[in-house]
Amino acid sequence: MQNNIISALFIGQSFVTLKEADSTNNYLKELLSKSKPVNEGTVIMAESQYAGRGQQQNRWHSAPGLNLTFSILLKPNFLSVQHQFDLTRIISLGVVYALQAVTGQSIKIKWPNDIYYGDKKLGGILIENIVQGSQLKNSVIGIGLNVNQTEFPPEVPNPISIKQILQRDCDLNILIAQICNHIEAWYLKLKAGKLNEIRKQYLANLYWFNQEKSFLAEGAIFKGTIIAVRDNGFLVLNTETEEKEFNLKQIKFLNKL
Ligand code: BTN
Repeated sequence: MQNNIISALFIGQSFVTLKEADSTNNYLKELLSKSKPVNEGTVIMAESQYAGRGQQQNRWHSAPGLNLTFSILLKPNFLSVQHQFDLTRIISLGVVYALQAVTGQSIKIKWPNDIYYGDKKLGGILIENIVQGSQLKNSVIGIGLNVNQTEFPPEVPNPISIKQILQRDCDLNILIAQICNHIEAWYLKLKAGKLNEIRKQYLANLYWFNQEKSFLAEGAIFKGTIIAVRDNGFLVLNTETEEKEFNLKQIKFLNKL
């Protein structure tokens, strides 16, 4: 289906809106597994997901019709597997820049790719890469954002929505268009090899960067300061005793003690 709102060059030029899907990431991956080629930049948006997936096998909860749940197909075959975290960086930056423009507020990336306002989660990103040899072939970028929902089930940890920030409803079609435009601009920077700028901006927009905070790892609570993110995406913390690196499942951020 053609789309008239999104002015990006290719992201959203093929745009499918579904009333309901299990998960837009699953839907897009199934489409890819069929024989017909799928254009780079195809967007699948669902008004409702009945089995939305989050990171680390978590569920993604989203009230039907109120929020954005969508997936974008990218084909970053110029990117090696070792550099896949740069894709995470640019997608996070695209979402954050779009939301900063819409809200006029400081929106941050909580490592590796959660979208935060203050200490609350506004959205999340689930990237599923399909690899060919040493390069990425297809990348299914799933984005879930709390937009007009104001009541959340108790199992959702510290949620907030755009409506709760702006104190008014936000148009979903305009918002998705802005996000796609920003993601495309960052994707083109990645394609052009502007890694210094990308990595610098990722750190500049990182939640808790350069602040001493509490963390939990290996069963122990400790204080540390995020000082870097390695090229491969590992988080680097300065602790009281040493500099330590962590992968995703190895560390938790502790907001309240
Ligand atoms: C997370 O923070 O855990 C990531 C959440 C990602 C949710 C989005 S909603 C659209 C796409 N489809 C899914 O099933 N998940 C992603």
